[in-house]
Amino acid sequence: MKTIVVTGGAGFIGSNFVYYLLSHSTSSRIVVFDKLTYAGNQRSLQEAIETGRVHFVQGDIADSRQVHALYHRFKPAYIFNFAAESHVDRSIEGPEAFVRTNVEGTFQLLQESRRYWMGLKGRARVDFRFLHVSTDEVYGSLGKTGSFSETTPYAPNSPYSATKAGADHLVRAYHETYGLPVVLTNCSNNYGPYQFPEKLIPLMILNALEGKPLPVYGDGKNVRDWLYVEDHCEALWKAMTKGSPGERYNVGGSNEKTNLEVVGTLCRQLQRAYPAGQNPALLEKGLKDYGKLVVFVKDRPGHDRRYAIDASKIRRELGWIPHHSFDTGMEATVKWYLGHLDWCRRVQEGNYGRQRLGLLKK
Ligand code: NAD
Ligand code: DAU
Repeated sequence: MKTIVVTGGAGFIGSNFVYYLLSHSTSSRIVVFDKLTYAGNQRSLQEAIETGRVHFVQGDIADSRQVHALYHRFKPAYIFNFAAESHVDRSIEGPEAFVRTNVEGTFQLLQESRRYWMGLKGRARVDFRFLHVSTDEVYGSLGKTGSFSETTPYAPNSPYSATKAGADHLVRAYHETYGLPVVLTNCSNNYGPYQFPEKLIPLMILNALEGKPLPVYGDGKNVRDWLYVEDHCEALWKAMTKGSPGERYNVGGSNEKTNLEVVGTLCRQLQRAYPAGQNPALLEKGLKDYGKLVVFVKDRPGHDRRYAIDASKIRRELGWIPHHSFDTGMEATVKWYLGHLDWCRRVQEGNYGRQRLGLLKK
């Protein structure tokens, strides 16, 4: 039985990936290794753990001893590295944790992967892979036209994207220098179940339901290329099982939207699922339309204007295609949040109050 290690598996994409694995890799053992920061929650894995196929270990990827013990104990065939500090706004306020986890943590995983892989024999050595989950933000910001391809030069603008870029360079170097069989993926903005409510879509859904302002940064015309999280999970599995060592794959849904368009779509979806006219929080304010809650607030420092992914390589070489349109993905997402308000309350409790993050203090 193959063992698959998923670092950061208690976070947004990692937990969705664990559920993806449970249905698509039915004979493997899954080990989640996660520090359980504010963004990680075992509650997100509850049903997965109940299957008996998922083993949870609390640990830090930047701690070499813990990482060594993980490899020694579980002897993985595949490592998927999702573990990261992932929120741009938090990286503006406190970049240290980003350097430690994203750069130092990836380094420790690479060091241990190399040591472990060198000790493997036969088929196990040939099959071993380390997949590093990265972001389109490493490429910087686009003008009105064009898209990021696998050969676009790196130009990260936030401490978050700079640390992700640093990690990507290390991953690449471990292949070039030591031959470690790595695969690298750079994906655009994900949305879907289990996303921590500091990110645009869940924050807006929860604020709207509570009749709170919907804070749009700047003029609301920044563009992101949105991908439903399950489609990202499928791309990662294809990259791991069909991709070539040393290769990089860009992943994106070709769903370019301004932030105002995203907020408009989610307000319309909410209106269908739970009309504002029936929501006491909105009625109290005399509002019959969630869109009336939009307010424009001070822009994010260093706010990238536009991202767009050219995903033609993964489509062509690995046969990956996204299955969700933005409308079907958003409908499923709004429905999920409406059905999981208890999860939303518990992950925020004593942890985060949906306050504005990432403004520079004078
Ligand atoms: P997330 O913040 O929801 O989850 C991160 C997880 O990593 C949490 O469970 C956290 O507890 C864990 N973690 C943090 N530091 C750790 C450490 N030192 N050791 C072990 N675990 C640690 O993030 P996400 O949105 O699920 O993103 C997952 C990965 O995908 C990240 O590497 C991110 O850069 C990348 N990515 C995210 C998106 C997106 O839109 N969310 C898009 C492209 C790429
Ligand atoms: O592109 C991939 C990246 O997408 C990932 O690497 C990151 O981990 C992930 O967090 C995400 O980064 P963004 O900065 O694009 O996501 P965020 O949800 O923070 O913001 C999306 C857009 O919405 C961005 O232009 C900022 C804006 N925004 C965000 C928040 C939280 C607002 O206008 N208001 C808000 O309250």
